[in-house]
Amino acid sequence: MLALLLLLVPASSLPAPASGDEGAVPVINAFSHFCSPTSDADGLYQPNSTFAANLASMSAVLPKNASASGFSAGAFGRAPDTAYGLALCRWDYTGDDCGACLSRAFKDAVNLCGRSKDVTIYHDQCHIRFYDQDYLAGAVNSPESVASNMNNVSRGNVAAFDGLVTRLANAVADRASNVSGRYATGQAGFPPDKINVYGLAQCTPDLTTAQCQACLAAIIKQMPKFLSGRVGGRILGVRCAVRYEKDIFFTTTGDMVTLTPLLDPSKGSSNTHTLWIVAIAVPITVLLCGFLACFMWMRRRRRRVTNLSGRVNIPTMSMEMEQVLKLWKIEESDSEFSLYDFDQIADATRNFSNDYKLGQGGFGAVYRGELPGGLEVAIKRLSTCSVQGLMEFKTEIQLIAKLQHTNLVRLLGCCLQAEEKMLIYEYMHNKSLDCFIFDSAKGAILNWERRFRIIDGIAQGLLYMHKHSRLRVIHRDLKASNILLDRDMNPKISDFGLARIFCSNVTEANTTRVVGTHGYIAPEYASEGLFSTKSDVFSFGVLLLEIISGKRTAGFYQYGKFFNLTGYAYQLWQEAKWHEMVDQVLGVDYPVTEVMKCVQVALLCVQDSADDRPSMSDVVAMLSGEGLTLPEPRQPAYFNVRLSSLPESNSSFGESSYISNVALTDEDGR
Ligand SMILES: *[C@@H]1O[C@H](CO)[C@@H](O)[C@H](O)[C@H]1NC(C)=O
Ligand SMILES: *[C@@H]1O[C@H](CO)[C@@H](O)[C@H](O)[C@H]1NC(C)=O
Ligand SMILES: *[C@@H]1O[C@H](CO)[C@@H](O)[C@H](O)[C@H]1NC(C)=O
Ligand SMILES: *[C@@H]1O[C@H](CO)[C@@H](O)[C@H](O)[C@H]1NC(C)=O
Repeated sequence: MLALLLLLVPASSLPAPASGDEGAVPVINAFSHFCSPTSDADGLYQPNSTFAANLASMSAVLPKNASASGFSAGAFGRAPDTAYGLALCRWDYTGDDCGACLSRAFKDAVNLCGRSKDVTIYHDQCHIRFYDQDYLAGAVNSPESVASNMNNVSRGNVAAFDGLVTRLANAVADRASNVSGRYATGQAGFPPDKINVYGLAQCTPDLTTAQCQACLAAIIKQMPKFLSGRVGGRILGVRCAVRYEKDIFFTTTGDMVTLTPLLDPSKGSSNTHTLWIVAIAVPITVLLCGFLACFMWMRRRRRRVTNLSGRVNIPTMSMEMEQVLKLWKIEESDSEFSLYDFDQIADATRNFSNDYKLGQGGFGAVYRGELPGGLEVAIKRLSTCSVQGLMEFKTEIQLIAKLQHTNLVRLLGCCLQAEEKMLIYEYMHNKSLDCFIFDSAKGAILNWERRFRIIDGIAQGLLYMHKHSRLRVIHRDLKASNILLDRDMNPKISDFGLARIFCSNVTEANTTRVVGTHGYIAPEYASEGLFSTKSDVFSFGVLLLEIISGKRTAGFYQYGKFFNLTGYAYQLWQEAKWHEMVDQVLGVDYPVTEVMKCVQVALLCVQDSADDRPSMSDVVAMLSGEGLTLPEPRQPAYFNVRLSSLPESNSSFGESSYISNVALTDEDGR
């Protein structure tokens, strides 16, 4: 029964797989983090200290214990070196998934906070806090993390929507504090904007009902201030959290609070609807599966009688489609572009087995494949969001295949079978840039010389796309996880051209779950949906800052007291302290003028006004030129900076490592 319920949850709402080191996919980074202190002067722990050993045993025990019950907390080691730790998974995120999320959080703690003694890491589905003081006895909720979806309900409906969200939050909070799991979910329809709202509240299960109630009430009180009008938002704390979104983001259960009727039953799933759907869908599904299995079996028998066990079903195609494909194959017969059969790809990926899965990208799952003859390829199995007909799809694919440059990942072919659309790319052995630059261990592999070569390669690839390819392609989604690295660490841009094949909301829908992408997006695109080569230039600037600093840009979401990378970099530049942002793994022995030039070019690229930004040819010229006088960068776009701190948060908490001494400007920062 549960399995069937899960099947009915729209795929988009399922948690994206935790993707640690995969290739062309966004790594799901910590949603936010708080480190204190951040410098040796204020007392970091020593690498071989007793505290470090206590932390190490904590990071082994808590994820393991929490995967049994969802929550674990305890004191590790004797005073004065005791480490106090707490680990909680979202209630619908259990077992190994929970353990894995928490283990990653402990790794993030090291990567993001170094040797800070008081660290809080929030992921979408779990969080940890450790500290050398005993905070476990109380119910202190700070440091809290606030984030909101950038999109709003329509202006006239803000008050009504805020009212509904508050009522929903209160109802869900009441339920959560009154059940032993200290977790509840709810839903409500909002007819004026034709959207539904889904809400969740959770406390650590060790809190009493009264403590949980008080904790959640304090959060709900802050919601109007931070989240007014936003279609989604969250306030996460160590002890309790509230979150709401316009799409389902948790696994639905039978006992959700339903405040007002949902608007489109096929979109949401209230209990009765779900039950009805299950009641109807189960027999139909069983019947359909039976028919389908029978049909496939007969078809396959006709084709060949091998490999019957464990084979994925080959979707059947219309005659028209078969015809188009046949002609297309003939057309391509003497080009380097290949049309692969579904069989071939299924074989190459051992029936899309998990062992061959590299990860989940914005446009669908990515697999490694081995073609007969030993050619290794990367296979992007596109999620069927494409709205186009076959002919338009073909045109786009042929366009992408024509883009050939040493710094672009080569499209080798594609495979179409009914609804299945797959793109076959050359395989990149070193995965993507984000696996290196955001990882303190692997980051060291990329010394400055390599980083500069990567920067230059990306610039050349983009310049080709913008200018020399005759087609003038705008990437639209340039980011570290879209820069793949070959055996020799040469960068190749991937995922270009895909944005056009998909319905436009893919990026947005995806970033609600995978935070990060929107940190790269130019303000004119974020606010008005305007694309141009200059929006790619903006993303390039952000990427450049990431490569220099080894720090991730903040996401699409707004963070409590969290600054995005562009603001941070500009501030340091203004104060002539840009060297403070240079990735520490680079040491002090880097070519100062070259790095400084890169910082300056990056800041020119992220300027607020698109007209002020250089073109890619300017960028290439600036990067290669020596002794040029570059213009002074203007203020970048602070379009998603949240500046005020939470009223409750104590000043010793919540200092993100990004903002140690940055003067804050007003919310829009313009
Ligand atoms: C920690 O290691 C450093 C060198 O690696 C050494 O100098 C120091 O004495 C060690 N401290 C402890 C407490 O073992
Ligand atoms: C973790 O689980 C083990 C075995 O169940 C138990 O002995 C230990 O006390 C637990 N530790 C914490 C911190 O919960
Ligand atoms: C939503 O509203 C906030 C505050 O009113 C505003 O700053 C922001 O730009 C709006 N977002 C969008 C996408 O319009
Ligand atoms: C809590 O649950 C009890 C019974 O389980 C019920 O009587 C009570 O009304 C509930 N309180 C709230 C605030 O929901």
